[in-house]
Amino acid sequence: MKIIFCCTGTKPEPWLAGLRSALPGAEVEVWQPGAPQADHAVVWAPPQQFFDEQTALKGIFNIGAGVDALLKLKLPPKATVVRLDDAGMSVQMAEYVCHAVIRHFREFDAYEADIRAGKWSYRKPLERSDFPVGVMGLGVLGARVAQSLAQFDFPVVGWSRSAKTLAGVRCFAGAERFSDFLSATRILVNLLPLTPETRDIMRLQTLSQLQSGGYVINVARGAHLVDEDLLSLLDKGHLAGATLDVFRTEPLPGEHPFWHNPKITITPHTSARTLRDQSIAQIAGKIRCLEAGQPIVGVVDPVRGY
Ligand code: NAP
Ligand code: GLV
Repeated sequence: MKIIFCCTGTKPEPWLAGLRSALPGAEVEVWQPGAPQADHAVVWAPPQQFFDEQTALKGIFNIGAGVDALLKLKLPPKATVVRLDDAGMSVQMAEYVCHAVIRHFREFDAYEADIRAGKWSYRKPLERSDFPVGVMGLGVLGARVAQSLAQFDFPVVGWSRSAKTLAGVRCFAGAERFSDFLSATRILVNLLPLTPETRDIMRLQTLSQLQSGGYVINVARGAHLVDEDLLSLLDKGHLAGATLDVFRTEPLPGEHPFWHNPKITITPHTSARTLRDQSIAQIAGKIRCLEAGQPIVGVVDPVRGY
């Protein structure tokens, strides 16, 4: 069995060593133009030329959860596209989002500013019930995030395409319940995949439906958010702030207004990183299953887009 590795921006050697050790007997090589046909590919942001040449692939393993960039390419029609299914990401995402929600709710930025100014001051505790958190996308990551927030006794609502039952989370499903979900939300967390249906989903018309003093946490993809609409609602005071990990252009261009807006916290697309060893173990296990004709989870539906 031949496995080919084509991950832009990733040092290949540790991945090759890990895959070789997890799949003894497999030939694992880095792709070079003109390389022989492989059975499975491990990819991140490969060029179109890769798929134009590698037409015999049975499995394409994306080393991230989001496949929006991959699905823009013309892929071999018979290949099964597989995304990372958690592989250590959901706990990172839960840490990041809980941190952002709690930092806002407990006014830690204001306390920090006071302390820096030499002020020992108290603020009146805010009511948790006034800060319902809405999680868009209740998949592998969103469900873990929603349930982690519920552990802190925040009122939590969730929204997905198909109906869900999650302990501690009031779940809404489908486009027809989106407005109900938004109006029940003060802190909005985005964990949707980027698809034609979800692009620009956070825009003036939708963000205006959040409860007054709303807060936006975007940890999915930059193209879910219309930047100018967020800035305008922050200016008007309908929204109180935002924590953003993902952007339309990454790295965020130096002149972008998000860099210096005091109501916006930014991080460099780091909320849930690909963990190499867990990812290799998951991918190797799935390659073994595919080769044995057994079912696997995390298969992408190219029509649905996730
Ligand atoms: P997932 O398991 O596929 O979950 C996606 C969720 O979104 C599902 O609940 C799905 O509903 C829902 N959904 C999709 N389209 C919808 C629509 N049109 N309306 C309502 N709900 C919709 O994905 P995941 O593993 O949780 O990852 C989510 C995203 O996080 C990824 O696609 C990626 O873009 C992003 N991500 C970011 C980072 C980072 O570091 N910033 C790291 C990893 C992932 P159903 O359950 O009904 O299908
Ligand atoms: C990261 O953004 C991922 O999709 O895994």
